[in-house]
Amino acid sequence: MSKQSYRIVALPGDGIGPEVLACALRVLDAVRELFAVDFEIEEIPCGGHYYAEHEIEWPEGSFEKCEAAHAILLGAVGHEVDGRTVFTKPGKPYPEPQLAGFAQVIGNRKKLDLYAIVRPVKLYPGVKHKIHGELVQVWNPEKVDYVVIRENTEDAYTGEIEVIEDGRITPIRITRRATERVARYAFNLARRRNRQMKVTCVDKSNIIGAHRFFRDVFRQIGESEFPELTLDYAYVDAFCQWQIRSPEWFDVVVGPNLVGDIVSDNGATTAGGLGLAVGGNIGDEHAMFEPIHGSAPKHAGKDKANPMAAILAMQMMLDWLAGRYADDRLASAAAKVEAAVSAVLEEGRTLTYDLIGESKAARCSEVGRAVEEKLRVIS
Ligand code: IPM
Ligand code: MN
Repeated sequence: MSKQSYRIVALPGDGIGPEVLACALRVLDAVRELFAVDFEIEEIPCGGHYYAEHEIEWPEGSFEKCEAAHAILLGAVGHEVDGRTVFTKPGKPYPEPQLAGFAQVIGNRKKLDLYAIVRPVKLYPGVKHKIHGELVQVWNPEKVDYVVIRENTEDAYTGEIEVIEDGRITPIRITRRATERVARYAFNLARRRNRQMKVTCVDKSNIIGAHRFFRDVFRQIGESEFPELTLDYAYVDAFCQWQIRSPEWFDVVVGPNLVGDIVSDNGATTAGGLGLAVGGNIGDEHAMFEPIHGSAPKHAGKDKANPMAAILAMQMMLDWLAGRYADDRLASAAAKVEAAVSAVLEEGRTLTYDLIGESKAARCSEVGRAVEEKLRVIS
C-alpha cells in the first residue's frame, strides 16, 4: 500500500468549525509534503447555516461520499439565527425538529456504525487545568492521562420519542451487542496502553435498569475474556467529582452514550479545557474525528478560537489510518504532529485566549501556523 491515496471528507460545518478545521487542514498539507503521503480532500458544506439556506443539511450524495472516504474530519455543527438555534422542520428521520447538523454528527455515527467514541483526557506539559489556582500547585500534569470510551449508537440517543398527553418519553436503549463491542474496545485499549491494566465502567446502574444491564455485560466480557485486567465501577455522579479530584485513578473508562458525553466534557476541565479536547468516532469500517467543543457561535468569524483540538483530531485520524492500513509513514506523521502541538503548548508563546488570557492571546490562524512550522522543524 505504498502509493495509497487517502480520501478524506472534511466537514467544516458551522460557527468556529471552518476556522479551526482550516488550521487542521493546513497542518495536514504539511504532512502530505513532509511524509510523502497522498491525501485527496473533499470539503462538503453542511450544518445549520447550510440548512437555513437550503432546507437540507448538506448537498445530495454527501453521505455517500462520507461512506466512500477513508476517514472524515468534522469541524462543528450548530448554527444560530438571531440568537436562536436552527432546528430542522418536523419530519424525517425523527418525529420532532432536531438540531440542524444531526445528519453529520448523529447520522454519520449511526449510519456508519461508529460504535465507540474515543476521548482522551490528557494534560500536556505547559497546560494548566481549569480548576482554581490552589489545586494547580499540587497537580502533577503527568497524572491526567486516561481515555473515555463512549458507546455511540444507543442509550438516550436513539432519536425515538413518544408523545404522551402531558409530555414526551425518550427511551434509554442498551443492547447486548452494542455493549459487548464497546466494552471489548475499552478492554483491548487498556491492554494496548499497558499501564494500570484497568477499565472503569461508569453508569447510573443504581437507578437505571438499562444501565444495570450495561454493567452486567461489561462484567461478563471483562471476567471471561480479559482476566488479566482489573474491572472497576463507578456511578456517574460520584465519578464526576473523582475525575476532578483524582484523575490519576483512571486508565480507560467506558460508559453508555449520555454518560460518556458528560464525563468527557467534564474531564476536559482537567486537561486545558474544551479547546484541547478531541474525539474519534470509531467503527470497524469507518471513522470520523472531531474537536468536541462545538460551534461556539459567539466566537465565529473572529479568528480567535483554539484550533488545537481540531489539529489533534486530525492527528488522531492519522494514527487511526496508520493502524488500519498498516502505514508506517502515517504512524510517524501522527507522532510528529502530536509532538509539534505539545511543543507549541510547552513553549507557551503562541496560544489562544483560553490558554493564556485575552491580553497575550494569539489568533486561531497564528496557532495553526505555529504548529505547522514546528512540525517542519522537528520532522
Ligand atoms: C458531542 C456533542 C454531540 C453529542 C451533540 C452535538 C449532539 O455534544 O459530540 O459530544 O451529544 O454527542
Ligand atoms: Mn458532548
